[in-house]
Amino acid sequence: MFLSRTAATALKVNALSAAKLNGIRAITTASPSLTQAFSAQKNANGNYLVTLIPGDGIGPEISRSVKEIFAAAKTPIEWEEVDVTPIIKDGKTAIPEEAITSVRKSTVALKGPLATPIGKGHVSLNLTLRRTFNLYANVRPCRSIAGYKTPYEDVNTVLIRENTEGEYSGIEHEVVDGVVQSIKLITKEASERVARYAFTYAQSVGRDRVTAVHKANIMKLADGLFLDVCRQVSKEFPNIKFDEVLLDRACLHITSDPSLYAETVMVMPNLYGDILSDMCAGLIGGLGLTPSGNIGRDASIFEAVHGTAPDIAGQDKANPTALLLSGIMMLKHMRLNEQAANIEQAVFKTIAEGKALTGDLGGRATNTQYTNAVIESTFNH
Ligand SMILES: NC(=O)c1ccc[n+]([C@@H]2O[C@H](COP(=O)([O-])OP(=O)(O)OC[C@H]3O[C@@H](n4cnc5c(N)ncnc54)[C@H](O)[C@@H]3O)[C@@H](O)[C@H]2O)c1
Repeated sequence: MFLSRTAATALKVNALSAAKLNGIRAITTASPSLTQAFSAQKNANGNYLVTLIPGDGIGPEISRSVKEIFAAAKTPIEWEEVDVTPIIKDGKTAIPEEAITSVRKSTVALKGPLATPIGKGHVSLNLTLRRTFNLYANVRPCRSIAGYKTPYEDVNTVLIRENTEGEYSGIEHEVVDGVVQSIKLITKEASERVARYAFTYAQSVGRDRVTAVHKANIMKLADGLFLDVCRQVSKEFPNIKFDEVLLDRACLHITSDPSLYAETVMVMPNLYGDILSDMCAGLIGGLGLTPSGNIGRDASIFEAVHGTAPDIAGQDKANPTALLLSGIMMLKHMRLNEQAANIEQAVFKTIAEGKALTGDLGGRATNTQYTNAVIESTFNH
């Protein structure tokens, strides 16, 4: 009796959800050009325009550090700084028009952390940015950093997370009192564009394998579709090997021997990527050293994954490494590989030397001292 009443109500609710699903489908089917290569041109001064969102808390300090180091390495970049303090438009959190215009124009942005105001009716600004620019793939490389010791020494993972749907589609409802449903939405289109991006990315960074991480043994339809699409896309890339691994096995493998994943690019649905990417970050010493890129069709936004660190903001104690490494990812996305390699070597050399480490890495240097040490290395290695 209970079951049949539940089933009847579920049917009704599911009919209501269909309209919402159609809306989401319209968003996720938007992209026929499935991978987003950077295609902006240099301006009259010979520079690329890049939007800079300094962010809140330590954001302005670590952004300043990135600007100084990039200038010392002579990167051909002109920054356009924008404020993304949220506005409420038609009852919803929105990003100021000026910021949207800048990102649409430059098609690439570097973003510091943003504080999510509590209890003021705002949704996460990070989520708003993701939705505004339809940033469909979240790329998270995690590499052990010489000089910063953790129990693991050979981590070199790259993970690409589907960023727009899956368990984060936001379709939830109460069927009857005490029974709720949360819909995991997987579409062929969104799976295809993230899968194709993963293969393209593997090619561009010289990895010869893509690994789809899934639970298709349990979620036969949802993860089954994701996996099927990955298999189809793999046929377009005969030079890249393709394999598949269950999420639980992947966690076991990575924590037992992370070097098993050093040659591959992992691609997976939203929730698995959220969890697994933080797990990989933990292996190299935490979020403070982890960069990320959010790739979209019309723009891409690169950001550190740590927060605004309000406890140390304004004290010149912040470590800018994660934002710097995100900036280096951005330079590679823009095919400014020489400058990217130059700055990357300088950062790793500075950390390996251990003379100018910030407090979070066990040192006593200020952000300014660390920044100057990296600049020194940029010219001297
Ligand atoms: N991507 C983002 O924009 C993002 C991500 C996470 C949290 N947040 C926001 O940040 C605010 C604070 O969040 P939280 O306190 O949970 O996390 P947090 O990452 O800001 O801080 C956690 C701890 O790590 C330290 N820390 C973080 N980054 C550091 C750095 N670069 N150098 C040295 N130490 C660093 C902090 O001092 C703090 O002790 C919240 O408003 C949250 O919503 C934003």
